[in-house]
Amino acid sequence: MMTMRVAIIGVGQTKMGEHWEKSLRDLSTAAGALALKDAGISASDIDGLYIGNMSAGRFVGQEHLGALAVDQAGLTPIPATRCEAACASGALAFRKAYLAILSGHHDMVMVGGAEKMTDLKATGSVGTLMGAGDQEWESSIGLTFTGLYALMANVYMRKFGLTREELALIPVKNHGHGVNNPYAQFRFPVSVQDVLNSALVADPLRLLDCSPITDGAAAVVLATENVAKRFDNPIWIAGSGQASDTLALHGREEMHRVRAAEYAAKTAYAQAGLGPDDIDVAEVHDCFSIAEVMAYEDLGFAPRGKGKDLLINKDTTIGGRIPVNTDGGLKVGHPVGATGIKQIIEIVRQLKALAPNQVKGAKIGLAHNVGGSGATALVHILRSD
Ligand code: COA
Repeated sequence: MMTMRVAIIGVGQTKMGEHWEKSLRDLSTAAGALALKDAGISASDIDGLYIGNMSAGRFVGQEHLGALAVDQAGLTPIPATRCEAACASGALAFRKAYLAILSGHHDMVMVGGAEKMTDLKATGSVGTLMGAGDQEWESSIGLTFTGLYALMANVYMRKFGLTREELALIPVKNHGHGVNNPYAQFRFPVSVQDVLNSALVADPLRLLDCSPITDGAAAVVLATENVAKRFDNPIWIAGSGQASDTLALHGREEMHRVRAAEYAAKTAYAQAGLGPDDIDVAEVHDCFSIAEVMAYEDLGFAPRGKGKDLLINKDTTIGGRIPVNTDGGLKVGHPVGATGIKQIIEIVRQLKALAPNQVKGAKIGLAHNVGGSGATALVHILRSD
Protein backbone atom coordinates (compact mmCIF):
# COMPACT_ATOMS: atom_id res chain seq x y z
CA MET A 1 0.00 0.00 0.00
CA MET A 2 1.54 3.32 -1.11
CA THR A 3 1.23 6.13 1.39
CA MET A 4 3.61 8.77 0.08
CA ARG A 5 2.05 11.35 -2.19
CA VAL A 6 3.60 13.10 -5.19
CA ALA A 7 2.73 16.64 -6.25
CA ILE A 8 3.02 18.89 -9.28
CA ILE A 9 4.72 22.11 -8.16
CA GLY A 10 5.33 23.91 -11.47
CA VAL A 11 4.11 23.93 -15.08
CA GLY A 12 5.19 25.54 -18.35
CA GLN A 13 4.40 25.25 -22.05
CA THR A 14 5.11 26.85 -25.41
CA LYS A 15 2.44 28.01 -27.78
CA MET A 16 1.34 25.20 -30.10
CA GLY A 17 1.63 25.81 -33.83
CA GLU A 18 4.17 26.04 -36.63
CA HIS A 19 7.47 27.06 -35.02
CA TRP A 20 9.64 27.14 -38.12
CA GLU A 21 12.12 29.50 -36.48
CA LYS A 22 12.67 27.24 -33.44
CA SER A 23 14.31 23.83 -33.07
CA LEU A 24 13.09 20.93 -30.96
CA ARG A 25 15.88 21.87 -28.51
CA ASP A 26 14.58 25.47 -28.33
CA LEU A 27 11.02 24.35 -27.68
CA SER A 28 11.81 21.80 -24.96
CA THR A 29 14.22 24.20 -23.23
CA ALA A 30 11.63 27.00 -23.26
CA ALA A 31 8.96 24.77 -21.69
CA GLY A 32 11.36 23.50 -19.02
CA ALA A 33 12.50 27.03 -18.12
CA LEU A 34 8.87 28.14 -17.74
CA ALA A 35 8.11 25.19 -15.44
CA LEU A 36 11.13 26.02 -13.23
CA LYS A 37 10.06 29.66 -13.08
CA ASP A 38 6.49 28.70 -12.20
CA ALA A 39 7.77 26.49 -9.35
CA GLY A 40 10.19 29.21 -8.23
CA ILE A 41 13.17 26.84 -8.25
CA SER A 42 16.45 26.62 -10.14
CA ALA A 43 17.62 23.84 -12.45
CA SER A 44 20.08 22.57 -9.84
CA ASP A 45 17.13 21.54 -7.61
CA ILE A 46 16.12 18.87 -10.16
CA ASP A 47 17.51 15.36 -9.62
CA GLY A 48 15.91 13.45 -12.51
CA LEU A 49 14.50 14.17 -15.97
CA TYR A 50 11.97 12.34 -18.15
CA ILE A 51 10.91 13.43 -21.63
CA GLY A 52 8.03 12.16 -23.75
CA ASN A 53 8.66 12.18 -27.47
CA MET A 54 7.14 10.10 -30.22
CA SER A 55 9.41 10.30 -33.23
CA ALA A 56 12.04 13.05 -33.26
CA GLY A 57 14.29 10.72 -35.24
CA ARG A 58 11.91 10.78 -38.18
CA PHE A 59 10.44 14.27 -37.70
CA VAL A 60 13.72 16.16 -37.30
CA GLY A 61 16.53 13.56 -37.41
CA GLN A 62 17.29 13.75 -33.68
CA GLU A 63 17.27 10.75 -31.32
CA HIS A 64 18.63 10.54 -27.77
CA LEU A 65 16.18 13.13 -26.45
CA GLY A 66 16.93 12.55 -22.77
CA ALA A 67 20.57 13.55 -23.37
CA LEU A 68 19.52 16.53 -25.50
CA ALA A 69 17.19 17.88 -22.80
CA VAL A 70 19.48 17.31 -19.82
CA ASP A 71 22.47 18.79 -21.65
CA GLN A 72 20.59 21.87 -22.82
CA ALA A 73 19.19 22.48 -19.33
CA GLY A 74 22.72 22.28 -17.88
CA LEU A 75 21.62 19.40 -15.68
CA THR A 76 24.30 16.80 -16.42
CA PRO A 77 25.05 14.32 -14.82
CA ILE A 78 21.52 13.62 -13.46
CA PRO A 79 19.75 10.65 -15.12
CA ALA A 80 17.61 11.55 -18.14
CA THR A 81 15.17 9.17 -19.84
CA ARG A 82 13.13 9.42 -23.03
CA CYS A 83 9.72 7.68 -23.03
CA GLU A 84 7.86 6.65 -26.16
CA ALA A 85 4.30 5.37 -26.55
CA ALA A 86 3.18 7.19 -29.73
CA CYS A 87 0.73 10.01 -28.90
CA ALA A 88 0.72 8.86 -25.26
CA SER A 89 4.47 9.49 -24.83
CA GLY A 90 3.84 12.57 -22.62
CA ALA A 91 1.62 10.79 -20.12
CA LEU A 92 4.00 7.82 -20.13
CA ALA A 93 6.91 10.11 -19.17
CA PHE A 94 4.72 11.63 -16.44
CA ARG A 95 3.87 8.20 -15.03
CA LYS A 96 7.48 7.02 -15.15
CA ALA A 97 8.61 10.13 -13.26
CA TYR A 98 5.81 9.65 -10.72
CA LEU A 99 6.79 6.01 -10.14
CA ALA A 100 10.49 6.98 -9.91
CA ILE A 101 9.67 9.43 -7.11
CA LEU A 102 7.50 6.84 -5.33
CA SER A 103 10.40 4.37 -5.56
CA GLY A 104 12.46 6.75 -3.40
CA HIS A 105 15.06 7.47 -6.07
CA HIS A 106 14.23 11.14 -6.59
CA ASP A 107 12.92 14.19 -4.72
CA MET A 108 12.27 16.58 -7.57
CA VAL A 109 11.88 15.57 -11.22
CA MET A 110 11.36 17.53 -14.44
CA VAL A 111 8.94 15.84 -16.88
CA GLY A 112 8.74 17.23 -20.37
CA GLY A 113 7.06 16.40 -23.63
CA ALA A 114 8.13 17.76 -27.01
CA GLU A 115 7.49 17.24 -30.70
CA LYS A 116 8.39 19.17 -33.84
CA MET A 117 6.15 17.88 -36.62
CA THR A 118 5.97 20.64 -39.23
CA ASP A 119 9.50 20.38 -40.63
CA LEU A 120 8.25 17.53 -42.86
CA LYS A 121 5.69 17.89 -45.66
CA ALA A 122 2.18 16.61 -44.78
CA THR A 123 2.72 13.20 -46.41
CA GLY A 124 5.96 12.83 -44.43
CA SER A 125 4.36 13.73 -41.11
CA VAL A 126 1.33 11.48 -41.69
CA GLY A 127 3.69 8.62 -42.66
CA THR A 128 5.83 9.25 -39.58
CA LEU A 129 2.77 9.21 -37.32
CA MET A 130 1.78 5.89 -38.87
CA GLY A 131 5.04 4.46 -37.55
CA ALA A 132 2.96 4.02 -34.40
CA GLY A 133 0.53 1.71 -36.19
CA ASP A 134 1.29 -1.87 -37.21
CA GLN A 135 3.88 -1.65 -39.99
CA GLU A 136 3.13 -5.08 -41.49
CA TRP A 137 -0.67 -5.01 -41.28
CA GLU A 138 -1.60 -1.32 -41.46
CA SER A 139 0.91 1.25 -42.72
CA SER A 140 2.33 -1.01 -45.44
CA ILE A 141 -1.11 -1.10 -47.13
CA GLY A 142 -1.58 2.68 -46.91
CA LEU A 143 -3.70 2.99 -43.76
CA THR A 144 -3.34 6.26 -41.84
CA PHE A 145 -4.55 7.16 -38.35
CA THR A 146 -7.42 9.11 -39.90
CA GLY A 147 -8.28 5.90 -41.78
CA LEU A 148 -8.12 3.76 -38.61
CA TYR A 149 -10.30 6.15 -36.62
CA ALA A 150 -12.68 6.38 -39.62
CA LEU A 151 -13.10 2.58 -39.36
CA MET A 152 -13.86 2.96 -35.64
CA ALA A 153 -16.30 5.80 -36.40
CA ASN A 154 -18.15 3.70 -38.98
CA VAL A 155 -18.51 0.77 -36.56
CA TYR A 156 -19.60 3.07 -33.70
CA MET A 157 -22.07 5.10 -35.78
CA ARG A 158 -23.73 1.99 -37.20
CA LYS A 159 -23.92 0.22 -33.82
CA PHE A 160 -25.27 3.14 -31.78
CA GLY A 161 -26.99 5.34 -34.38
CA LEU A 162 -24.69 8.33 -33.89
CA THR A 163 -25.33 10.72 -36.79
CA ARG A 164 -22.76 12.71 -38.73
CA GLU A 165 -24.31 15.96 -37.40
CA GLU A 166 -24.07 14.72 -33.77
CA LEU A 167 -20.40 13.77 -34.26
CA ALA A 168 -19.74 17.33 -35.48
CA LEU A 169 -20.71 18.64 -32.02
CA ILE A 170 -17.26 17.53 -30.74
CA PRO A 171 -15.17 19.90 -32.92
CA VAL A 172 -17.79 22.62 -32.49
CA LYS A 173 -17.38 22.39 -28.69
CA ASN A 174 -13.58 22.07 -28.74
CA HIS A 175 -12.96 24.88 -31.23
CA GLY A 176 -15.31 27.00 -29.10
CA HIS A 177 -13.25 26.27 -25.97
CA GLY A 178 -9.96 26.85 -27.85
CA VAL A 179 -10.86 30.45 -28.70
CA ASN A 180 -9.81 31.50 -25.16
CA ASN A 181 -6.65 29.34 -25.04
CA PRO A 182 -3.57 31.54 -25.62
CA TYR A 183 -1.46 28.41 -26.33
CA ALA A 184 -3.79 27.01 -29.03
CA GLN A 185 -2.75 26.53 -32.65
CA PHE A 186 -6.30 27.36 -33.80
CA ARG A 187 -8.41 30.00 -32.05
CA PHE A 188 -11.46 30.19 -34.29
CA PRO A 189 -14.97 28.84 -33.64
CA VAL A 190 -16.62 26.44 -36.13
CA SER A 191 -20.26 25.49 -36.74
CA VAL A 192 -21.78 22.07 -37.48
CA GLN A 193 -22.14 23.24 -41.08
CA ASP A 194 -18.44 24.19 -41.24
CA VAL A 195 -17.53 20.67 -40.09
CA LEU A 196 -19.88 19.03 -42.62
CA ASN A 197 -18.54 21.25 -45.43
CA SER A 198 -14.84 20.72 -44.62
CA ALA A 199 -12.76 18.44 -46.86
CA LEU A 200 -13.35 14.69 -46.55
CA VAL A 201 -10.16 13.00 -45.29
CA ALA A 202 -11.30 9.40 -44.59
CA ASP A 203 -15.05 8.79 -44.69
CA PRO A 204 -16.83 9.82 -42.44
CA LEU A 205 -14.02 11.99 -40.94
CA ARG A 206 -13.49 15.46 -42.38
CA LEU A 207 -10.72 18.02 -41.90
CA LEU A 208 -12.50 19.59 -38.92
CA ASP A 209 -12.80 16.18 -37.20
CA CYS A 210 -8.98 15.88 -37.15
CA SER A 211 -6.30 17.12 -34.78
CA PRO A 212 -3.64 19.09 -36.68
CA ILE A 213 0.11 18.69 -37.28
CA THR A 214 1.73 20.75 -34.48
CA ASP A 215 5.04 21.83 -32.97
CA GLY A 216 5.18 22.39 -29.23
CA ALA A 217 6.57 21.44 -25.84
CA ALA A 218 5.27 21.28 -22.27
CA ALA A 219 6.87 20.53 -18.89
CA VAL A 220 5.93 19.99 -15.26
CA VAL A 221 7.97 19.63 -12.07
CA LEU A 222 7.07 16.77 -9.70
CA ALA A 223 8.14 16.56 -6.06
CA THR A 224 7.80 14.28 -3.04
CA GLU A 225 5.20 15.16 -0.43
CA ASN A 226 7.89 16.40 1.97
CA VAL A 227 9.34 18.77 -0.60
CA ALA A 228 5.95 19.85 -1.96
CA LYS A 229 4.78 20.99 1.47
CA ARG A 230 7.15 23.97 1.14
CA PHE A 231 5.30 25.19 -1.97
CA ASP A 232 2.03 27.09 -2.35
CA ASN A 233 -0.90 25.18 -3.70
CA PRO A 234 0.68 21.91 -4.92
CA ILE A 235 -1.56 19.69 -7.04
CA TRP A 236 -1.56 16.03 -6.02
CA ILE A 237 -1.46 12.92 -8.18
CA ALA A 238 -4.31 10.80 -6.85
CA GLY A 239 -4.28 7.99 -9.39
CA SER A 240 -2.23 6.72 -12.32
CA GLY A 241 -3.24 3.95 -14.71
CA GLN A 242 -1.66 2.48 -17.82
CA ALA A 243 -2.86 -0.38 -20.03
CA SER A 244 -2.26 -1.96 -23.42
CA ASP A 245 -4.18 -3.58 -26.29
CA THR A 246 -3.35 -5.11 -29.67
CA LEU A 247 -1.12 -2.93 -31.86
CA ALA A 248 -3.25 -3.45 -34.98
CA LEU A 249 -6.90 -2.44 -34.93
CA HIS A 250 -8.07 -5.70 -36.56
CA GLY A 251 -6.89 -7.63 -33.48
CA ARG A 252 -9.52 -6.01 -31.26
CA GLU A 253 -12.70 -7.84 -30.36
CA GLU A 254 -14.72 -4.63 -30.65
CA MET A 255 -13.83 -1.43 -32.50
CA HIS A 256 -16.34 0.88 -30.84
CA ARG A 257 -14.37 1.07 -27.60
CA VAL A 258 -10.75 1.48 -26.43
CA ARG A 259 -10.21 -1.33 -23.92
CA ALA A 260 -6.77 -0.05 -22.86
CA ALA A 261 -8.39 3.24 -21.79
CA GLU A 262 -11.07 1.36 -19.83
CA TYR A 263 -8.40 -0.61 -17.94
CA ALA A 264 -6.19 2.44 -17.37
CA ALA A 265 -9.21 4.36 -16.01
CA LYS A 266 -10.19 1.46 -13.74
CA THR A 267 -6.67 1.38 -12.25
CA ALA A 268 -6.52 5.17 -11.76
CA TYR A 269 -10.03 5.35 -10.20
CA ALA A 270 -9.21 2.47 -7.83
CA GLN A 271 -5.95 4.05 -6.68
CA ALA A 272 -7.65 7.41 -6.15
CA GLY A 273 -10.65 5.85 -4.39
CA LEU A 274 -12.83 7.86 -6.79
CA GLY A 275 -15.25 7.19 -9.64
CA PRO A 276 -16.41 8.96 -12.79
CA ASP A 277 -19.05 10.95 -10.88
CA ASP A 278 -16.31 12.57 -8.75
CA ILE A 279 -14.53 14.15 -11.73
CA ASP A 280 -15.10 17.91 -12.04
CA VAL A 281 -13.16 18.47 -15.27
CA ALA A 282 -11.37 16.26 -17.83
CA GLU A 283 -8.93 16.45 -20.70
CA VAL A 284 -9.51 13.57 -23.12
CA HIS A 285 -7.64 12.42 -26.21
CA ASP A 286 -9.74 13.80 -29.09
CA CYS A 287 -7.22 13.07 -31.88
CA PHE A 288 -10.32 12.61 -34.04
CA SER A 289 -13.87 13.58 -33.07
CA ILE A 290 -15.01 9.96 -32.66
CA ALA A 291 -12.21 9.37 -30.13
CA GLU A 292 -13.78 11.83 -27.69
CA VAL A 293 -17.20 10.12 -27.89
CA MET A 294 -15.56 6.75 -27.15
CA ALA A 295 -13.53 8.34 -24.32
CA TYR A 296 -16.73 9.48 -22.55
CA GLU A 297 -17.78 5.84 -22.40
CA ASP A 298 -14.36 4.27 -21.74
CA LEU A 299 -13.98 6.63 -18.74
CA GLY A 300 -17.49 5.92 -17.43
CA PHE A 301 -18.84 9.46 -17.97
CA ALA A 302 -21.69 7.94 -20.03
CA PRO A 303 -23.06 4.41 -20.51
CA ARG A 304 -21.89 2.57 -23.64
CA GLY A 305 -23.55 4.00 -26.75
CA LYS A 306 -24.86 7.06 -24.90
CA GLY A 307 -21.86 9.37 -25.23
CA LYS A 308 -23.78 11.59 -27.62
CA ASP A 309 -26.26 12.49 -24.86
CA LEU A 310 -23.47 14.42 -23.10
CA LEU A 311 -23.01 16.46 -26.27
CA ILE A 312 -26.68 17.07 -26.96
CA ASN A 313 -27.24 18.18 -23.33
CA LYS A 314 -24.01 20.28 -23.41
CA ASP A 315 -22.82 18.38 -20.30
CA THR A 316 -19.20 18.49 -21.52
CA THR A 317 -19.24 22.17 -22.55
CA ILE A 318 -17.99 24.86 -20.12
CA GLY A 319 -20.83 25.42 -17.67
CA GLY A 320 -22.04 21.81 -18.09
CA ARG A 321 -22.01 18.89 -15.64
CA ILE A 322 -18.51 17.64 -16.56
CA PRO A 323 -16.64 20.01 -18.88
CA VAL A 324 -14.24 18.16 -21.21
CA ASN A 325 -11.28 19.64 -23.11
CA THR A 326 -11.67 23.09 -21.61
CA ASP A 327 -8.52 24.26 -23.49
CA GLY A 328 -9.91 23.03 -26.83
CA GLY A 329 -8.26 19.60 -26.60
CA LEU A 330 -6.12 18.05 -29.30
CA LYS A 331 -8.42 19.64 -31.89
CA VAL A 332 -6.65 22.98 -31.43
CA GLY A 333 -3.11 21.55 -31.23
CA HIS A 334 -1.58 18.05 -30.97
CA PRO A 335 2.24 18.09 -30.72
CA VAL A 336 2.09 14.34 -30.14
CA GLY A 337 4.92 13.77 -27.61
CA ALA A 338 3.94 16.91 -25.68
CA THR A 339 0.17 16.36 -25.66
CA GLY A 340 -0.04 14.21 -22.51
CA ILE A 341 1.84 16.87 -20.54
CA LYS A 342 -0.15 19.81 -21.88
CA GLN A 343 -3.35 17.95 -20.88
CA ILE A 344 -2.00 17.62 -17.31
CA ILE A 345 -1.12 21.33 -17.32
CA GLU A 346 -4.68 22.31 -18.24
CA ILE A 347 -5.98 20.18 -15.34
CA VAL A 348 -3.45 21.80 -12.96
CA ARG A 349 -4.63 25.26 -14.09
CA GLN A 350 -8.25 24.23 -13.54
CA LEU A 351 -7.53 22.94 -10.03
CA LYS A 352 -5.66 26.16 -9.18
CA ALA A 353 -8.52 28.28 -10.62
CA LEU A 354 -6.15 29.76 -13.21
CA ALA A 355 -7.69 28.42 -16.44
CA PRO A 356 -9.00 30.80 -19.14
CA ASN A 357 -12.19 28.69 -19.33
CA GLN A 358 -12.43 28.09 -15.58
CA VAL A 359 -14.73 25.37 -14.21
CA LYS A 360 -16.06 26.87 -11.01
CA GLY A 361 -14.92 25.06 -7.87
CA ALA A 362 -13.00 22.31 -9.73
CA LYS A 363 -11.15 20.12 -7.21
CA ILE A 364 -10.66 16.81 -9.03
CA GLY A 365 -9.57 16.46 -12.65
CA LEU A 366 -8.70 13.64 -15.04
CA ALA A 367 -6.35 13.42 -18.03
CA HIS A 368 -6.71 10.64 -20.65
CA ASN A 369 -3.92 10.13 -23.20
CA VAL A 370 -4.06 7.45 -25.93
CA GLY A 371 -1.26 6.07 -28.12
CA GLY A 372 -2.02 5.13 -31.73
CA SER A 373 -5.45 3.63 -32.30
CA GLY A 374 -5.59 2.56 -28.64
CA ALA A 375 -2.71 0.11 -28.16
CA THR A 376 -1.53 2.18 -25.18
CA ALA A 377 -3.63 4.33 -22.87
CA LEU A 378 -2.88 6.26 -19.70
CA VAL A 379 -5.25 7.94 -17.26
CA HIS A 380 -4.20 10.28 -14.45
CA ILE A 381 -6.39 11.74 -11.74
CA LEU A 382 -5.25 14.94 -10.01
CA ARG A 383 -6.70 16.68 -6.97
CA SER A 384 -6.17 20.02 -5.26
CA ASP A 385 -6.17 18.74 -1.67
N1 COA B 1 -8.25 21.38 -38.27
C1 COA B 1 -8.56 22.60 -38.77
N2 COA B 1 -7.87 23.19 -39.75
C2 COA B 1 -6.79 22.52 -40.22
C3 COA B 1 -6.40 21.28 -39.73
C4 COA B 1 -7.18 20.70 -38.71
N3 COA B 1 -6.88 19.51 -38.21
N4 COA B 1 -5.29 20.87 -40.38
C5 COA B 1 -4.99 21.85 -41.25
N5 COA B 1 -5.89 22.85 -41.14
C6 COA B 1 -5.95 24.07 -41.95
C7 COA B 1 -4.63 24.78 -42.03
O1 COA B 1 -4.50 25.75 -41.03
C8 COA B 1 -4.70 25.40 -43.41
O2 COA B 1 -5.50 26.56 -43.35
P1 COA B 1 -5.21 27.84 -44.29
O3 COA B 1 -5.35 27.35 -45.69
O4 COA B 1 -6.26 28.81 -43.86
O5 COA B 1 -3.81 28.25 -43.95
C9 COA B 1 -5.48 24.38 -44.24
O6 COA B 1 -6.27 23.65 -43.29
C10 COA B 1 -4.60 23.42 -45.00
O7 COA B 1 -3.56 23.01 -44.12
P2 COA B 1 -2.56 21.84 -44.52
O8 COA B 1 -1.44 21.89 -43.54
O9 COA B 1 -2.23 21.90 -45.98
O10 COA B 1 -3.45 20.57 -44.22
P3 COA B 1 -3.17 19.11 -44.72
O11 COA B 1 -4.21 18.76 -45.74
O12 COA B 1 -1.75 18.94 -45.10
O13 COA B 1 -3.41 18.25 -43.38
C11 COA B 1 -4.74 16.69 -42.16
C12 COA B 1 -4.68 18.08 -42.86
C13 COA B 1 -6.11 16.55 -41.53
C14 COA B 1 -4.55 15.58 -43.19
C15 COA B 1 -3.63 16.62 -41.09
O14 COA B 1 -3.82 17.69 -40.20
C16 COA B 1 -3.67 15.31 -40.33
O15 COA B 1 -3.21 14.29 -40.82
N6 COA B 1 -4.16 15.31 -39.08
C17 COA B 1 -4.18 14.12 -38.24
C18 COA B 1 -2.90 14.03 -37.44
C19 COA B 1 -2.79 12.70 -36.75
O16 COA B 1 -3.03 11.65 -37.29
N7 COA B 1 -2.34 12.74 -35.49
C20 COA B 1 -2.17 11.55 -34.70
C21 COA B 1 -3.48 11.12 -34.17
S1 COA B 1 -3.51 9.45 -33.59
